Amino acid sequence: MAANSQKATEYAHYHKIEFLSDLKDFLNIPSISTDPDHQADMVRAAEWLKQQLASLGFDNLKIFNTKRHPIVYGDYLQAGPVAPTILVYGHYDVQPVDPIELWATNPFDPIEKGQELYGRGASDMKGQVISSLKALESILKTGPLPVNVKFMLEGEEEIGSPNLDAFMKEHKALLACDIVLNPDAGMIAPDVPTIVYALRGLAYFELRVYGPAHDLHSGLFGGVVHNPAQALCELIAGMHDDHGHVTLPGFYDQVKELSEEERQELSRLPTNEEFFLEKTGVPQIWGDGEFSPGERVGSRPTLEINGILSGFTGAGTKTVIPAWAMAKISSRLVPDQTPEDVDLQLRKYLQTNAPSSIRWELTTFGGGPACFTERDLPATRAPVQALESVWGKRVVYKREGGSIPVVAGVRSILGVSSVLTGFGLPDDNAHAPNEKLDLPTWYRGIDALIQFFYNMEDTPRVNNNAN
Ligand code: BES
Ligand code: MN
Repeated sequence: MAANSQKATEYAHYHKIEFLSDLKDFLNIPSISTDPDHQADMVRAAEWLKQQLASLGFDNLKIFNTKRHPIVYGDYLQAGPVAPTILVYGHYDVQPVDPIELWATNPFDPIEKGQELYGRGASDMKGQVISSLKALESILKTGPLPVNVKFMLEGEEEIGSPNLDAFMKEHKALLACDIVLNPDAGMIAPDVPTIVYALRGLAYFELRVYGPAHDLHSGLFGGVVHNPAQALCELIAGMHDDHGHVTLPGFYDQVKELSEEERQELSRLPTNEEFFLEKTGVPQIWGDGEFSPGERVGSRPTLEINGILSGFTGAGTKTVIPAWAMAKISSRLVPDQTPEDVDLQLRKYLQTNAPSSIRWELTTFGGGPACFTERDLPATRAPVQALESVWGKRVVYKREGGSIPVVAGVRSILGVSSVLTGFGLPDDNAHAPNEKLDLPTWYRGIDALIQFFYNMEDTPRVNNNAN
């Protein structure tokens, strides 16, 4: 290890407690982007981050307002025009906490239990934002930062980043960079340093089915009207066949097949049937048997029901035919599917299959296409070497099933690739009750990011106008 990075690493080890305490402060802010009641908390989280960047000595600090939640920007360009520029992406918003009764502790009062820190956003992704900030603090407090760094921190990732592409288009020059560091992608296991090279995209819908003008007595009208809850379930049931294939017309037409070489490589990952049984607690796994479980999650598209609502669901009984039924439906996309394709396919399916005994309405929400990063980029060497030196193990390359909308926009608008990594784990309960962060992995992550920033100094520039 070079002398500089050794000093920075020592600083990080010495300041572990302070780092954790800053993370806890950040986790205290209930920045739930989807909930209008938390608007003020979103602003508070953005201001908190701006303050963090200020105390690191970053310049050009600014909070940009969008149609919904603000974006925080700051940069440190003192490495000069010859050095590469890294744009660090992060999101400060978190998912809602319901069902709150299943949390063992208050989601916004982070608490350590053994090696884990519990709290909403600890893993996804406030912990990852803090690890990037703390790696930079460790470097800046112990010597010069040999690369230029810009931060772009948004508050809308968990609602599909609806305003981020417009922001990037408007501020292309400000955001110009050679590479994006995106630590929102996570690792397979605490002892498996991971680089993610593909993410799935997302298309999201709400389907409403309407029947009678108002709720009806099921004795007086049962057998005469098509129950909307039943009609909705029939439509949903028809969206998959017995083999787990999605039946929307043309759904697989744009799907790129895996090459034999990629299948071989992916087969070495530990994401097999036992892995999913253990992580999920299901009695049996399910899905398209032509592909292995790991291939299905990383490289095949899905259609999921995220929620269903209709009729009487309270205590006791009520004999009623509901007036309407609703389902939230989303699709995880793989290259080269687009959200627009799936929107058309779903509408076509409904036009063909919806019975004339009901009326339906489909609303489309924001989403994004899938993305793919070349694995042999020069800029991938910096994180690979960093992870390998800290973990003392070979990095594995993974196609990830989750989505991070910014990645496609970074490629199409800013013209650069993303390094997708992070220190969250599959069993961190992201989006679920009792979200946690594995602290030993998080601390190693900080060490690895320190190495990453130093390694980037030697990476060839791809964008000479970046600073
Ligand atoms: N960090 C996750 C995505 C993720 C998880 C990537 C695990 C790789 C490994 C991100 O915050 C997320 O949850 N994204 C949403 C995006 C959606 C709302 C558009 C998702 O995937 O559901
Ligand atoms: Mn998330």
